[in-house]
Amino acid sequence: MGAARGADEKTRVAPRPALDRTLGRARYAVAQGARVAWYMSHYLLARRLSGPFNRPDEPRFEPQAEEGDPGRIRAAFLALFARDRANIEAGLYPAPHDVGVDQALTAMRDSARFFADLPNVDRRRLERAGAEVRAANDRARYPAYYLQNFHYQTGGWLTPESAALYDMQVEVLFGGAADAMRRIALGALARGMRGRDQRRLHLLDVGCGNGRFLAQTLGAFPKLNATGLDLSPAYVEAARARLAPWPQADAVVGAAETIPFDDGAFEAAVSVYLFHELPPRIRRDVARELARVMAPGATLVVADSLQSGDAADLDRMLEYFPVGFHEPYFKSYLGEDLIALFEDVGFAHIETELAFLTKVLRFARR
Ligand SMILES: C[S@@+](CC[C@H](N)C(=O)[O-])C[C@H]1O[C@@H](n2cnc3c(N)ncnc32)[C@H](O)[C@@H]1O
Repeated sequence: MGAARGADEKTRVAPRPALDRTLGRARYAVAQGARVAWYMSHYLLARRLSGPFNRPDEPRFEPQAEEGDPGRIRAAFLALFARDRANIEAGLYPAPHDVGVDQALTAMRDSARFFADLPNVDRRRLERAGAEVRAANDRARYPAYYLQNFHYQTGGWLTPESAALYDMQVEVLFGGAADAMRRIALGALARGMRGRDQRRLHLLDVGCGNGRFLAQTLGAFPKLNATGLDLSPAYVEAARARLAPWPQADAVVGAAETIPFDDGAFEAAVSVYLFHELPPRIRRDVARELARVMAPGATLVVADSLQSGDAADLDRMLEYFPVGFHEPYFKSYLGEDLIALFEDVGFAHIETELAFLTKVLRFARR
């Protein structure tokens, strides 16, 4: 009788986690599928509305998928979401709540903004006009390399409109995978901080932009002390607004090559999509500054574009980026030895993870 009740309890109790997992997976698949469909449709419509992509004197914008295996990029894309879901199930961070009625209005507004600005971006791309922002801004206040219309975006890094449009532009470019790629960096950060009390840690995000990654991080670690640093006052203002729910978090204006904080001030740091935007010499300065402001044993996560040879099928597509999207330092970035760059200034390499078009490196400060 007792044994029978035990067995009965097992059958009543055991299915719950499995059912929860199945429901969680289904919710995730529906939400991320909807998100991907939304951004992919923008990408396809934008391509239709824009001028021709492959001009005669440019490398063609196409991946090198091997003949007979055209699904390799799709496989990398799907592997990213499988990895993201596995991280959620492993408890590294919570499932995103990024598709819902409350987001619909914002999504419509961002969509309208995106299409209103598209002709400007396209004109710059066709004319290869990547420096108009230099003429409009204070050259004494910013380094010359920074005063460019990266990605041919309107206002470069320097206007509130650019800060408001940025997330949409990036998601459209990556077919709705940008946030999922950032979450893979969050997984690496979570592994690096495992076993530590988040209330006693201070995280620095260099090149934090409008605070997208910081908000994802604080959603997972709501008591973490966090500071964003960015050279753009407009992006910092947007980041501050986004960080309002977490009073212990802030964003400040400053250059990553002269970080305005004391030696050893941070137990963790991240850099998301910054290094490919920097000239080679500045990359070294930023790595040195990160080493200076990080405490011994601190975790550093660097997430940035794939590089040459990381995924052979994608090399040709990566080579198109510098011309197709005005990425003036991307070509040199493709061959940069990032592990050596950080090891030379005092970091030990812990792990590397590829996530679709992003590479995530984790280091520990020696
Ligand atoms: C491609 S965005 C990435 C933003 C953000 N990390 C994200 O994941 O979306 C690059 C950001 O780096 C900032 N940036 C570029 N050079 C910088 C520098 N030398 N110091 C500080 N921020 C810089 C830009 O203003 C921009 O916000």
